[in-house]
Amino acid sequence: MPSPFAADRLPDGSRRYGHRAVVARRALLLGVVGVGAAATAGVVLGGDDGGGDGGAGRAVAADPATLPQAQPAATTAPPAAPAPSAPPAFSTTDAGSPWVVVNKQHPVDPVEYVPPALATVAGKQVSSVVAPELTALLAAARADGVRLALTSGYRSLDYQRGVHARAVAREGAAEAERYSARPGHSEHQTGLAVDFGSTTDSGCTLRDCFAETPEARWLTAHAGAFGFLLRYRPEDSAVTGYAAESWHYRWVGVDLVQRMAERGVTTLEAFFGVSGGPQYA
Ligand code: DAL
Ligand code: ZN
Repeated sequence: MPSPFAADRLPDGSRRYGHRAVVARRALLLGVVGVGAAATAGVVLGGDDGGGDGGAGRAVAADPATLPQAQPAATTAPPAAPAPSAPPAFSTTDAGSPWVVVNKQHPVDPVEYVPPALATVAGKQVSSVVAPELTALLAAARADGVRLALTSGYRSLDYQRGVHARAVAREGAAEAERYSARPGHSEHQTGLAVDFGSTTDSGCTLRDCFAETPEARWLTAHAGAFGFLLRYRPEDSAVTGYAAESWHYRWVGVDLVQRMAERGVTTLEAFFGVSGGPQYA
């Protein structure tokens, strides 16, 4: 059975998405999500230092059936926004949950966590639950003439330790920690986060100027339809605790992307009422 998120070309050249993706795309067309991450002045090296995969983990074939199903998507009317007191459908603390919040206040728990199943997409390891929609996203971009690169996916605790140490050695702790997570505090350790790169301007990979590339523009318009959230918007630094990263996307699933859009909320912290910010707990 094909992925419900797969995009097919129609005779007129437009694309058809599965119904869940259509719901998310409708929200995108309303302009409530996907606000572009404008490049800020200056150039900041990405916190992810172009690193590859993090190592351990059992690789499995991507299986759409492993995708968590949060809520059935509405087909005739958008679902009501959840009441603030409504419990989330998925845990926000379980490292294996698609809705887990990982930031400077909330480390990966347990700190040695490794996703139970990893899949390789475009040469990078990601949690197997992310692989179907990531694969579909890359294919959809390609169909639109945009060739996205994957710069980073899953990173182990030890790998993140090295990434962070190199950033600190290069720039000092204060500057490095604006964009590099301490080991045990990176979304990449969950396997749910990816860094996209530019193939038209590889010099902008992991740099502020990525935001001006065709690849970034495509992601701004379409990533949400595949369940990916732009995690570190420039406007949200005080909440997320990190400087803008127009390349770092976090898979949360299309249902959550849609719910956040309906409420006009752009961070996981604000949506779930979870603490964040630039200070470590
Ligand atoms: N660059 C992001 C914040 C990380 O290090 O996980
Ligand atoms: Zn990243």
